[in-house]
Amino acid sequence: MNVTHPTTAEDIDHAPFLERAFDRAPVEDSYRIDRVEGELPDYLRGTYYLNGPAQFRRVGHQPRHWLDGDGMVCALAFGVDGVSFTHRFVRSHKFVAEERAGRALFRTFGTAFEGDRLMRDIGLESPVNVSVYPVGDKLLAFGEQGLPWELDPHTLETRGQFTFGGRLNPVSPFSAHPAFDPRSGEMFNFGVSFSANRPRLNFYRFDRSGEPIYRRRLPLDAPTSIHDFGISANLATIYVSPHVMAMDSFLARGSSLLDALSWEPERGSQLLLIDRETGHERARVEIGSGYCLHLIDSFELGDLLFVDVLEMDQPIYDQYEIPTLFPEPRGCRPIRYAIDVARGRLVSRVPFAFEEMCDFPVVDPRRAGTDYRDFWALAIAGSDRAGRKFFDQLVHFDWRTGQTDIYRTPKGVYLAGEPAFVPRPGSRRDGVAICPAFDAAARSSCFLVFDALDVAAGPSARIALRAPVHLGFHSTFASADS
Ligand SMILES: [Fe+2]
Repeated sequence: MNVTHPTTAEDIDHAPFLERAFDRAPVEDSYRIDRVEGELPDYLRGTYYLNGPAQFRRVGHQPRHWLDGDGMVCALAFGVDGVSFTHRFVRSHKFVAEERAGRALFRTFGTAFEGDRLMRDIGLESPVNVSVYPVGDKLLAFGEQGLPWELDPHTLETRGQFTFGGRLNPVSPFSAHPAFDPRSGEMFNFGVSFSANRPRLNFYRFDRSGEPIYRRRLPLDAPTSIHDFGISANLATIYVSPHVMAMDSFLARGSSLLDALSWEPERGSQLLLIDRETGHERARVEIGSGYCLHLIDSFELGDLLFVDVLEMDQPIYDQYEIPTLFPEPRGCRPIRYAIDVARGRLVSRVPFAFEEMCDFPVVDPRRAGTDYRDFWALAIAGSDRAGRKFFDQLVHFDWRTGQTDIYRTPKGVYLAGEPAFVPRPGSRRDGVAICPAFDAAARSSCFLVFDALDVAAGPSARIALRAPVHLGFHSTFASADS
């Protein structure tokens, strides 16, 4: 009998049919959901928004990276008269030009090709595919390091690039992870200027209407890729990992951004603390040489700043290649850093006892920036196994008990975007977690709703979509009364 043994990670498949998530673009649609299995709580009123890359196919061109696809935004709206679903592409400059041309024109994060174009010859033309947030009465879709695009909050029609009243322009560095103060409504954000000689972190503060309050420029030791940050009562915290961008490789030699990035752990990692009020630097704290894509939350107690992150041994972007995703994700764990702010010193570093690859952490929005107990994230079961994998667990983490509560999908079903927590009014902890799922074998998509404090019990409601949608990145829930 002939027995063949897999010899490389690419030969082993723990995510059957996952390539189906990338082989066709979802068809835009808007409709009422006519069937919900299970019970939705009465307090679930508002809209779950999700952004993510959805168009991976242009004639004669095969992108090779999850970050390459054009952004499509989903809106699952829970009203008194039922549930409706809308999904539309963001009409970015890139999307419109490539639709018109009928082929790929622009270089993307993971894919460079002969004759590809850049934005003003200095950066990527954003596919606007990472996140989506309500800002005041507007809905803004974000890509990595570019201006957001304004959408109609109901129809998701694109209104245009959002320049904050002309105060920012298309080359202003601007991350896909703004942070919002739930009390003041202020928005903070950052962006990296990747100059080899004068790398800087731009830090921005806006009022609740989107009017800029300040923009500061803080020096960086190197032009490092930074994706996310956190805010607490008085501080903004940036986790600076030594993931260094070679702009000459990107600009002069035509490489993709992925290929222009190098991991240089000998440089070490830092927490950069910024005074929220003024935008000026408070401290830089050495914290080893880990990599952080996403922070969970940060909060202050007395003289201490607590910074909770999902920390990895190395960057994650090389695990996003299509169709073989997450073949060898490196060590990843939730970490709680305690920092003595006045002395600029690390006090403690406490890991959460969870060793699987996890990402897309969310907290109760009422607790953001304060001492909180629970968070939720997606995880990959058996993430140390070689071979293709994808998110197949929704995990509820409890810092107080150190316990986890885990829902695992059936084989061939993948969790397809960041969960959102919707609190039960009047309760301190209760609520529901909403999470999209993609059944690759059946080529169908749905949304799952869980009791957030007992996700292991499985979904309490399932909302089936008419047609499959893409694997998303970041979500937000806009409650009906906000
Ligand atoms: Fe992100």
